[in-house]
Amino acid sequence: MSKYIIITGSPRVGANSDSVAEFIKAELGNNDVEIWNIYEKDFTYCHADNACKELGKCAIDDDATALVDQLKEADGAFVIAPIYFGRLPGPVCTLIDRFYGVFNPAKGLDVPSPNKKVGFVLTMGGDEVENVEPVAAQSAGAFAVVGFGASDSVVLGGNNDPAAFIGSDDEKAKVKALVDWML
Ligand SMILES: Cc1cc2nc3c(=O)[nH]c(=O)nc-3n(C[C@H](O)[C@H](O)[C@H](O)COP(=O)(O)O)c2cc1C
Repeated sequence: MSKYIIITGSPRVGANSDSVAEFIKAELGNNDVEIWNIYEKDFTYCHADNACKELGKCAIDDDATALVDQLKEADGAFVIAPIYFGRLPGPVCTLIDRFYGVFNPAKGLDVPSPNKKVGFVLTMGGDEVENVEPVAAQSAGAFAVVGFGASDSVVLGGNNDPAAFIGSDDEKAKVKALVDWML
């Protein structure tokens, strides 16, 4: 049994990101799966005070620090998020900035494992999915800091309706292919 964390980045409770997360959880079967909904969590931005460089972890005690510890232990992760103005939503960027708490070149960095994968599912209202494909690739670089050595992504377009994913067999097939890659 492997441990997977599914981070969702939409404030819309029960909308596409939540539906994708539940779908992925079901596809992961009997594995140990935690869905980490951003709207249920309490975390602040990186203070950039470099306290972590002495402590070996972030000096802030909140849900982001706890998640970073969990990500380091996880076998794989998914990030499910809407596209806002062509990029990840602000809270997801804030969360990724908090990876800085374990980024410490002076003490040596963990080598990312190619077997530890992160999969991105990005959902958007428009259809220009190719324009946002670099968003996931750019974020994958930050996940390397917490040990993730491989990444892949799916971008789902035309999804302003919060129930769009639920009603689309085509989108489910694309996300299932990402889960198959993860496994
Ligand atoms: C602040 C904001 C910015 C958005 N920017 C874009 C955008 O740049 N391109 C796009 O196609 N859709 C954009 N959208 C639409 C969302 O990406 C889309 O509705 C998405 O599927 C919502 O995901 P959710 O159902 O999980 O909340 C934006 C929505 C909001 C609220």
